[in-house]
Parts: sequence; structure tokens; C-alpha cells
Amino acid sequence: MLVVAAVPKPGEPVPDVAARSAALLIGTARQLIGQPGARLWGITAGVRESTDEAHLAGSAMWGLGRVLAGEQDDLWCGTIDLPGEGLPGADLAAVLLDVLRSDVREDVVAIRDGAAFASRLRRAESPATGDPVSCRPDGTYLITGGLGRLGLEVAAWLAGRGARRLILAGRQGLPPRSAWADPADPETRRRIDGVRALEARGMTVRVIGLDVADAGAAARELSPDATGLPPIAGVVHAAGVLEDRLATDVDEKSLRTVLRPKADGAWVLHRLFPPGSFDFMVLFSSCGQLLGLPGQATYGAANTFLDALAAHRPDTTSLGLTSWRGYGMAVNEATDRWLRSQGVTDISAAGAFSAWDRAARTGTGYVAVLRTVPLTEGQERGPLLRDLATGPETDGNRPSGGSFTGLSREELGNRVLRWCAPRSPMRCGSPPPPWTSAGP
Ligand SMILES: NC(=O)c1ccc[n+]([C@@H]2O[C@H](COP(=O)([O-])OP(=O)(O)OC[C@H]3O[C@@H](n4cnc5c(N)ncnc54)[C@H](OP(=O)(O)O)[C@@H]3O)[C@@H](O)[C@H]2O)c1
Repeated sequence: MLVVAAVPKPGEPVPDVAARSAALLIGTARQLIGQPGARLWGITAGVRESTDEAHLAGSAMWGLGRVLAGEQDDLWCGTIDLPGEGLPGADLAAVLLDVLRSDVREDVVAIRDGAAFASRLRRAESPATGDPVSCRPDGTYLITGGLGRLGLEVAAWLAGRGARRLILAGRQGLPPRSAWADPADPETRRRIDGVRALEARGMTVRVIGLDVADAGAAARELSPDATGLPPIAGVVHAAGVLEDRLATDVDEKSLRTVLRPKADGAWVLHRLFPPGSFDFMVLFSSCGQLLGLPGQATYGAANTFLDALAAHRPDTTSLGLTSWRGYGMAVNEATDRWLRSQGVTDISAAGAFSAWDRAARTGTGYVAVLRTVPLTEGQERGPLLRDLATGPETDGNRPSGGSFTGLSREELGNRVLRWCAPRSPMRCGSPPPPWTSAGP
């Protein structure tokens, strides 16, 4: 068994520590491949609550570890999240050692208050008493990845919720309007048509060419002086790239490529718009890492960073989306097959928006948005989703109290409790996500 943890260097930016931690986990996993029965634990601190910015540094390991575990038959990988504050005491060390000595096969184990917790998804059941998503007619709404497949759908949906001014940001932007009649390729045609459709609804649309991970450019391009629009009242961060490959084939460049738009980009937005700057921020994450979707190690790492940021910020929600039926980067037969093997399938665009609305109405910081389907004979869901098949969890929040010492390895594994619900119905909900929402 090997245990790895990345120690931040003084002044190192949080997304850089996240990338370094992920690289360390991958590098260590590579060493262990081919050693039957090998076990690898990543150690993080405070990611579950992410109360402090520094806690986000370990978050990428969560998604990466889950995918690693899904890809490798002879290597098991999980993450232990230690409390974020305070010096580790004897109690903590005892529980940590017990978990390490056990055969537990949970993707993430959080040690809190002298007990070990594993996470479970459960159906969203909290009462939706708040307001649905609404936009102010005098505000401006920024969508990163706004010209992407989902970005343009989001733009149209926000228009239906009262938005009158939109900024759509992506690296490529659009050619000058004089060239719109005869675009160079079908992708540009699609983007132009999307913008025209919004304008036909009376929307003011600014398209800006922006790499959202470039802090200087973002500060320049998104200022009201540069946009000529009222201040930004809400942000949807939907920028992302996929570069699927097995975790053991991931190199520094591919890791950085996938982390850049999501983790670095979200960090830039977080710093540019501190909590309280606007009404809401919604991060487009994915549920792929929850299912250990092979090939998506880097994508999983990037998305768990988003989930942790949503736990950190009181005004932010991360949507852990399954594939949108027929849309965008997730249109992929292999992905569909894997989802089915876990008893999960895609959602409609309407289902995704309804889950977003529900998250807004319940004030939830994280929602896994997926649809469950019956498993075929012989198939089994991973631990995280197992309770979905058997109904809602009833006693998952109860700490055990008693000591872990003197138990057999199997008993130790069984003593790991389950955490299902956020400690309050609001944003301190813990990544990995406690809720699932079933779309139509
Ligand atoms: N499609 C799905 O079913 C699905 C499921 C789960 C989660 N998601 C998430 O939803 C988001 C949108 O997905 P999609 O399917 O619409 O993908 P998409 O069509 O590929 O759109 C992603 C957009 O992000 C932009 N982008 C990439 N890197 C950027 C950067 N550094 N700065 C600014 N913009 C950047 C790209 O535009 P440029 O190339 O011009 O920069 C692209 O238009 C992604 O974050 C994805 O992870 C999608």
C-alpha cells in the first residue's frame, strides 16, 4: 500500500497545487500497476467542507482517484480526507491508521470527529421552497463556453428567465460580423446562428474571445468599461475540454490542458468576482468521475475542483451533470454504455434545467444530475451509487462514537459510516455530492 499527499509550496496558487497533487497520484499509480492487490490512498485535508481556499488544493485527487479505481483491475485507489483545521491529534491518527489497515473499498473516506465517513448519493428530497432561477433585466450574465453546445442552450434558457444582456466567452470567439454571411466552417455557422437566434429575441449579446484561465485578460475583457454593459449579475461557467485517455497515459501536458478551462478558469472567476459580487455562479461539472468513467481521469480531476469551489462559495452551485441527450462533448457511445453498466443514463436538456432550478430552490451547493435505470442481471453499482437501487439512506449521518481498535480488517471496513446529507441544506454541502436528482 502507498499513501500520497502533495504539500503546498509557499505562495503556490491553489490550482497549481491541485494539478501537482493530481500528477503525483498518477505518477504513483503508474509505479504500482502490475502489482496484484496494490492499494493507493491519496490524502487530502478539508476538501469535504472546503471552508478555506487552501482546502481546494486536494480536490482534484478525488475525481482522479475514482477514475483510476474504475480503470485498473489490479490497483485499488481511494482518497482519505482529513479535517481541514487543527493539528492532528491521537484520535485522528488512530482512526486514520485503522482505515489504512482495513479492507475498505470506498472511493473517498472523510475522517471527522473521531469517525470515518464514506459518501453516498441519495435522491434529492429536501423541500424546494426557494425561488427558481431568475435574471434581472438590468444585469449582465456571463457564460464561459457560451458558444458551445450547452452554452447556447443556457443562453436561451436564461433569456427565458428574464436576462436581457449576455456575454458569451470562448477562446475562439466569432469572426467580424461582416463575415457572418459566409462562415468558414459548419461549427462557426452553428455559433453564428445561435447568436442570431438570441438577438432575434431582443437580447444584447457580446461575444468575446477569452481564455477564461488568463487572469489578466479576464479582468480586462470583463470589466463594464470593456463590455459596455451593466455589471455582471450572474455567471455560468461552462468552459471545458475533454482529452480522454487512460490515467496511466496522462502526461503533464494533457492534465494541464483539461484542468485549465475548468479549474484555473473557475479560480480566475472566483478571484475576479469574490462572493457577494453577483447573484449566482453555476459551474458545469460532470457526474462521470462519480461513476469512475474510464478515460476521464483528468476531466474528473477538473470537475471535482469545481465541486469543491461550490462548497467553498455561498453563492455557487456545481451541477454534476450526466450526458445531455444528443448534445455537445458527451455524445459518445462508449460513455453511454458505461453509464448503463452503472444503472445510469442521460438526461434531456429540459431535465437538466429542471434540476438546476431545483438546486436554486433548495439552495443546494452541489447536485448530481443523472437518471437511474434498472441494472441488467449480474451488474452492480459502485458503492457511491449503491443506495440508489435500494432506496434512500436512513442513518448515514450518525457518527459511530466507539473506537476502531481491536476490530478485524473486515469489521474495520464495515465501521466506515456513510455521509449523505450536507450539514445544512445550504452550500456547506460536501463534495463528493450528497444529492442526486433524477431528470426525466
Ligand atoms: N455535453 C454534455 O452532455 C455534458 C455533460 C456533463 C458536463 N458537461 C459540461 O458542460 C460544459 C459544456 O459542455 P459542451 O458539451 O457544451 O461542450 P462544448 O460544446 O465543447 O463547449 C465547451 C466550450 O468551452 C469553450 N472553452 C474551452 N476552453 C476554454 C477556455 N480556456 N476559455 C474559455 N472557453 C473555453 C470552448 O470554446 P473555444 O474552443 O472557443 O474556447 C467550447 O465552446 C463543459 O464544461 C462540460 O464539461 C457537458
